[in-house]
Amino acid sequence: MKAFYEENNLPHPHLPACPVNRQLKGQKAIVTGANSGIGEAVAIALAKAGADVCINYVTRPEVADEVAQKASECGAKVITAQADVSREDEVKAMFEKTVKEFGTVDIVVPNAGVQIDGPFSEMTVEMWDKLMGINLRGQFLCCREAVNIFKKRGVVPNVSCAAGKIICMSSVHDVIPWAGHVNYASSKGGISMMMKSIAQEVAPHRIRVNAIAPGAIRTPINHEAWSTREAYDALMKLVPYKRIGEPEDIGRAAVWLASDDSDYVTGTTLYVDGGMTLYPGFETGG
Ligand code: BGC
Repeated sequence: MKAFYEENNLPHPHLPACPVNRQLKGQKAIVTGANSGIGEAVAIALAKAGADVCINYVTRPEVADEVAQKASECGAKVITAQADVSREDEVKAMFEKTVKEFGTVDIVVPNAGVQIDGPFSEMTVEMWDKLMGINLRGQFLCCREAVNIFKKRGVVPNVSCAAGKIICMSSVHDVIPWAGHVNYASSKGGISMMMKSIAQEVAPHRIRVNAIAPGAIRTPINHEAWSTREAYDALMKLVPYKRIGEPEDIGRAAVWLASDDSDYVTGTTLYVDGGMTLYPGFETGG
Protein backbone atom coordinates (compact mmCIF):
# COMPACT_ATOMS: atom_id res chain seq x y z
CA MET A 1 0.00 0.00 0.00
CA LYS A 2 1.27 3.45 -0.90
CA ALA A 3 1.91 6.14 1.68
CA PHE A 4 -0.96 8.57 2.21
CA TYR A 5 0.82 11.49 0.54
CA GLU A 6 1.68 9.38 -2.53
CA GLU A 7 -1.90 8.14 -2.91
CA ASN A 8 -3.32 11.62 -2.65
CA ASN A 9 -0.67 13.50 -4.55
CA LEU A 10 0.16 15.62 -1.54
CA PRO A 11 3.53 17.17 -0.74
CA HIS A 12 5.87 14.62 0.74
CA PRO A 13 5.92 15.06 4.53
CA HIS A 14 9.49 13.80 4.84
CA LEU A 15 12.26 16.04 6.00
CA PRO A 16 13.89 17.96 3.16
CA ALA A 17 17.07 16.49 1.67
CA CYS A 18 20.13 17.24 3.76
CA PRO A 19 21.67 19.54 4.67
CA VAL A 20 18.85 21.14 6.63
CA ASN A 21 19.04 23.47 9.59
CA ARG A 22 21.81 21.77 11.55
CA GLN A 23 20.65 22.91 14.97
CA LEU A 24 22.02 19.77 16.67
CA LYS A 25 25.53 20.18 15.31
CA GLY A 26 28.18 18.92 17.69
CA GLN A 27 25.70 16.84 19.72
CA LYS A 28 25.95 13.11 20.24
CA ALA A 29 22.85 10.94 20.33
CA ILE A 30 21.87 7.38 21.13
CA VAL A 31 18.64 6.00 19.66
CA THR A 32 17.53 2.55 20.75
CA GLY A 33 15.66 0.25 18.42
CA ALA A 34 16.99 2.36 15.57
CA ASN A 35 16.96 -0.28 12.85
CA SER A 36 13.21 -0.18 12.36
CA GLY A 37 10.20 2.12 12.10
CA ILE A 38 10.12 5.11 14.41
CA GLY A 39 13.65 4.56 15.79
CA GLU A 40 15.12 4.59 12.29
CA ALA A 41 13.30 7.81 11.37
CA VAL A 42 14.40 9.48 14.61
CA ALA A 43 18.04 8.47 14.05
CA ILE A 44 18.00 9.85 10.49
CA ALA A 45 16.22 13.06 11.54
CA LEU A 46 18.78 13.70 14.31
CA ALA A 47 21.60 13.04 11.83
CA LYS A 48 20.04 15.46 9.34
CA ALA A 49 19.91 18.03 12.12
CA GLY A 50 23.66 17.60 12.57
CA ALA A 51 23.98 15.15 15.48
CA ASP A 52 26.33 12.19 15.50
CA VAL A 53 24.31 9.07 16.19
CA CYS A 54 24.69 5.67 17.80
CA ILE A 55 22.24 3.28 16.13
CA ASN A 56 21.20 0.62 18.63
CA TYR A 57 19.78 -2.70 17.49
CA VAL A 58 19.33 -6.16 18.92
CA THR A 59 18.72 -8.30 15.82
CA ARG A 60 19.25 -7.76 12.07
CA PRO A 61 22.67 -6.04 12.11
CA GLU A 62 22.53 -5.69 8.32
CA VAL A 63 19.51 -3.35 8.64
CA ALA A 64 21.30 -1.33 11.33
CA ASP A 65 24.18 -0.95 8.86
CA GLU A 66 21.80 0.35 6.18
CA VAL A 67 20.37 2.94 8.59
CA ALA A 68 23.92 3.88 9.59
CA GLN A 69 24.80 4.36 5.92
CA LYS A 70 21.78 6.65 5.37
CA ALA A 71 22.60 8.67 8.50
CA SER A 72 26.25 9.06 7.54
CA GLU A 73 25.20 10.41 4.13
CA CYS A 74 23.93 13.41 6.11
CA GLY A 75 27.47 14.12 7.25
CA ALA A 76 27.00 12.57 10.69
CA LYS A 77 29.47 10.34 12.45
CA VAL A 78 27.60 7.10 13.02
CA ILE A 79 28.24 3.98 15.03
CA THR A 80 26.09 0.93 15.60
CA ALA A 81 25.77 -0.85 18.95
CA GLN A 82 24.11 -4.16 19.57
CA ALA A 83 22.39 -4.25 22.96
CA ASP A 84 19.30 -5.86 24.38
CA VAL A 85 17.94 -2.88 26.32
CA SER A 86 16.41 -5.11 28.98
CA ARG A 87 19.95 -6.15 30.04
CA GLU A 88 21.83 -3.81 32.33
CA ASP A 89 25.29 -5.01 31.25
CA GLU A 90 24.48 -4.55 27.56
CA VAL A 91 23.02 -1.06 28.08
CA LYS A 92 26.09 -0.01 30.07
CA ALA A 93 28.38 -1.39 27.34
CA MET A 94 26.44 0.55 24.68
CA PHE A 95 26.85 3.84 26.57
CA GLU A 96 30.54 3.09 27.18
CA LYS A 97 31.08 2.40 23.50
CA THR A 98 29.35 5.66 22.53
CA VAL A 99 31.38 7.73 24.99
CA LYS A 100 34.56 6.05 23.76
CA GLU A 101 33.75 6.79 20.11
CA PHE A 102 32.07 10.19 20.42
CA GLY A 103 33.54 11.57 23.67
CA THR A 104 30.17 12.15 25.32
CA VAL A 105 26.37 11.83 24.93
CA ASP A 106 23.92 14.76 24.75
CA ILE A 107 20.67 13.22 23.51
CA VAL A 108 19.16 9.84 24.38
CA VAL A 109 16.02 8.46 22.76
CA PRO A 110 14.93 5.26 24.53
CA ASN A 111 12.67 4.05 21.77
CA ALA A 112 13.01 0.26 21.56
CA GLY A 113 9.66 -1.35 22.22
CA VAL A 114 7.53 -4.35 21.33
CA GLN A 115 3.93 -5.46 21.33
CA ILE A 116 3.17 -8.96 22.58
CA ASP A 117 -0.61 -9.00 22.25
CA GLY A 118 -3.29 -11.33 23.54
CA PRO A 119 -6.52 -11.51 25.50
CA PHE A 120 -5.89 -10.61 29.13
CA SER A 121 -7.15 -13.94 30.51
CA GLU A 122 -4.55 -15.71 28.38
CA MET A 123 -1.67 -13.37 29.04
CA THR A 124 1.24 -15.36 30.41
CA VAL A 125 3.85 -14.15 32.85
CA GLU A 126 6.39 -14.55 30.03
CA MET A 127 4.40 -12.22 27.76
CA TRP A 128 4.14 -9.67 30.56
CA ASP A 129 7.77 -9.87 31.71
CA LYS A 130 9.33 -9.90 28.24
CA LEU A 131 7.40 -6.80 27.19
CA MET A 132 8.01 -4.94 30.45
CA GLY A 133 11.71 -5.85 30.24
CA ILE A 134 12.07 -4.16 26.87
CA ASN A 135 9.50 -1.35 27.05
CA LEU A 136 9.82 -0.16 30.65
CA ARG A 137 12.96 -1.57 32.25
CA GLY A 138 14.82 -0.86 28.99
CA GLN A 139 13.86 2.81 29.14
CA PHE A 140 14.70 2.98 32.85
CA LEU A 141 18.20 1.59 32.20
CA CYS A 142 18.86 3.98 29.31
CA CYS A 143 17.53 6.98 31.25
CA ARG A 144 19.71 6.16 34.24
CA GLU A 145 22.90 5.85 32.17
CA ALA A 146 22.03 9.08 30.37
CA VAL A 147 21.37 11.02 33.58
CA ASN A 148 24.66 9.88 35.09
CA ILE A 149 26.63 11.06 32.05
CA PHE A 150 24.71 14.36 31.85
CA LYS A 151 25.12 15.10 35.56
CA LYS A 152 28.83 14.36 35.52
CA ARG A 153 29.49 16.56 32.49
CA GLY A 154 27.01 19.41 33.04
CA VAL A 155 26.16 22.12 30.53
CA VAL A 156 28.57 22.83 27.70
CA PRO A 157 27.32 26.26 26.59
CA ASN A 158 28.49 26.18 23.00
CA VAL A 159 26.78 22.79 22.50
CA SER A 160 23.38 23.27 24.19
CA CYS A 161 21.65 25.26 26.95
CA ALA A 162 20.85 21.95 28.65
CA ALA A 163 23.15 19.38 30.22
CA GLY A 164 21.32 16.68 28.28
CA LYS A 165 18.02 15.69 26.75
CA ILE A 166 16.07 12.46 27.07
CA ILE A 167 13.12 11.74 24.80
CA CYS A 168 11.21 8.64 25.89
CA MET A 169 9.09 6.93 23.24
CA SER A 170 5.64 6.49 24.71
CA SER A 171 2.33 5.99 22.89
CA VAL A 172 -1.21 7.32 22.82
CA HIS A 173 -1.81 4.20 24.91
CA ASP A 174 -0.26 5.94 27.89
CA VAL A 175 -3.75 7.48 28.19
CA ILE A 176 -5.99 5.39 25.90
CA PRO A 177 -6.81 2.02 27.47
CA TRP A 178 -6.25 -0.83 24.99
CA ALA A 179 -8.09 -4.13 25.30
CA GLY A 180 -6.04 -7.06 24.07
CA HIS A 181 -2.85 -5.09 24.71
CA VAL A 182 -2.88 -4.76 28.50
CA ASN A 183 0.85 -5.34 28.92
CA TYR A 184 1.69 -2.76 26.24
CA ALA A 185 -0.67 -0.07 27.56
CA SER A 186 0.60 -0.68 31.10
CA SER A 187 4.20 -0.23 29.98
CA LYS A 188 3.37 3.04 28.22
CA GLY A 189 1.43 4.35 31.24
CA GLY A 190 4.49 3.48 33.30
CA ILE A 191 6.78 5.36 30.91
CA SER A 192 4.66 8.47 31.34
CA MET A 193 5.02 8.56 35.14
CA MET A 194 8.66 7.45 35.04
CA MET A 195 9.46 10.24 32.58
CA LYS A 196 7.74 12.91 34.70
CA SER A 197 9.33 11.74 37.96
CA ILE A 198 12.82 11.68 36.44
CA ALA A 199 12.18 15.10 34.87
CA GLN A 200 11.25 16.55 38.26
CA GLU A 201 14.32 15.04 39.92
CA VAL A 202 16.91 16.11 37.37
CA ALA A 203 15.59 19.50 36.23
CA PRO A 204 17.90 21.37 38.68
CA HIS A 205 20.80 19.79 36.78
CA ARG A 206 19.47 21.35 33.57
CA ILE A 207 18.57 17.94 32.20
CA ARG A 208 15.36 17.87 30.18
CA VAL A 209 13.24 14.73 30.06
CA ASN A 210 10.21 14.51 27.78
CA ALA A 211 8.23 11.91 25.89
CA ILE A 212 6.67 11.59 22.47
CA ALA A 213 3.38 9.71 22.28
CA PRO A 214 2.89 8.56 18.70
CA GLY A 215 -0.54 7.55 17.45
CA ALA A 216 -0.90 5.23 14.48
CA ILE A 217 2.36 5.52 12.59
CA ARG A 218 3.03 3.43 9.48
CA THR A 219 5.64 0.95 10.78
CA PRO A 220 5.99 -2.83 10.92
CA ILE A 221 4.58 -2.94 14.50
CA ASN A 222 1.04 -2.14 13.27
CA HIS A 223 1.23 -3.48 9.72
CA GLU A 224 -2.16 -5.14 10.16
CA ALA A 225 -3.79 -1.78 10.89
CA TRP A 226 -2.85 -0.15 7.57
CA SER A 227 -1.89 -2.78 5.01
CA THR A 228 -5.39 -3.38 3.58
CA ARG A 229 -7.99 -0.85 2.46
CA GLU A 230 -10.52 -2.16 5.03
CA ALA A 231 -8.06 -1.93 7.88
CA TYR A 232 -6.92 1.55 6.83
CA ASP A 233 -10.52 2.80 6.61
CA ALA A 234 -11.28 1.39 10.07
CA LEU A 235 -8.15 3.05 11.42
CA MET A 236 -9.15 6.41 9.96
CA LYS A 237 -12.29 6.36 12.12
CA LEU A 238 -9.88 6.77 15.04
CA VAL A 239 -7.86 9.59 13.47
CA PRO A 240 -9.60 12.98 13.14
CA TYR A 241 -6.80 14.28 10.88
CA LYS A 242 -7.59 11.45 8.43
CA ARG A 243 -4.13 10.28 7.56
CA ILE A 244 -1.83 7.72 9.07
CA GLY A 245 1.33 9.13 10.64
CA GLU A 246 4.64 8.61 8.89
CA PRO A 247 7.78 7.80 10.93
CA GLU A 248 9.21 11.17 9.84
CA ASP A 249 6.41 12.93 11.74
CA ILE A 250 8.00 11.53 14.89
CA GLY A 251 11.53 12.31 13.67
CA ARG A 252 10.69 16.00 13.38
CA ALA A 253 9.14 16.08 16.87
CA ALA A 254 12.25 14.42 18.29
CA VAL A 255 14.54 17.01 16.68
CA TRP A 256 12.50 19.80 18.25
CA LEU A 257 12.53 18.20 21.71
CA ALA A 258 16.29 17.61 21.42
CA SER A 259 17.03 21.16 20.32
CA ASP A 260 17.36 24.35 22.34
CA ASP A 261 14.14 25.55 20.65
CA SER A 262 12.34 23.54 23.34
CA ASP A 263 14.68 24.59 26.17
CA TYR A 264 11.88 25.45 28.61
CA VAL A 265 10.03 22.19 27.97
CA THR A 266 10.51 19.37 30.45
CA GLY A 267 8.33 16.63 31.92
CA THR A 268 5.86 16.83 29.07
CA THR A 269 4.45 14.34 26.60
CA LEU A 270 4.03 15.53 23.03
CA TYR A 271 1.15 13.68 21.34
CA VAL A 272 1.90 13.24 17.65
CA ASP A 273 -1.27 11.43 16.73
CA GLY A 274 -3.43 13.31 14.24
CA GLY A 275 -5.92 13.86 17.05
CA MET A 276 -6.31 10.21 18.10
CA THR A 277 -6.44 11.30 21.75
CA LEU A 278 -9.29 13.76 21.05
CA TYR A 279 -12.03 11.15 21.66
CA PRO A 280 -13.01 10.87 17.96
CA GLY A 281 -16.08 8.84 19.00
CA PHE A 282 -17.54 12.13 20.25
CA GLU A 283 -17.30 13.84 16.84
CA THR A 284 -21.04 13.57 16.49
CA GLY A 285 -22.35 12.17 19.79
CA GLY A 286 -22.30 12.97 23.45
C1 BGC B 1 0.94 0.95 18.74
C2 BGC B 1 0.36 0.72 17.35
C3 BGC B 1 -1.00 1.37 17.28
C4 BGC B 1 -0.98 2.80 17.77
C5 BGC B 1 -2.36 3.44 17.83
C6 BGC B 1 0.94 2.39 19.05
O1 BGC B 1 1.54 2.65 20.28
O2 BGC B 1 2.27 0.40 18.77
O3 BGC B 1 0.26 -0.66 17.10
O4 BGC B 1 -1.45 1.36 15.92
O5 BGC B 1 -0.40 2.87 19.05
O6 BGC B 1 -3.32 2.60 18.41
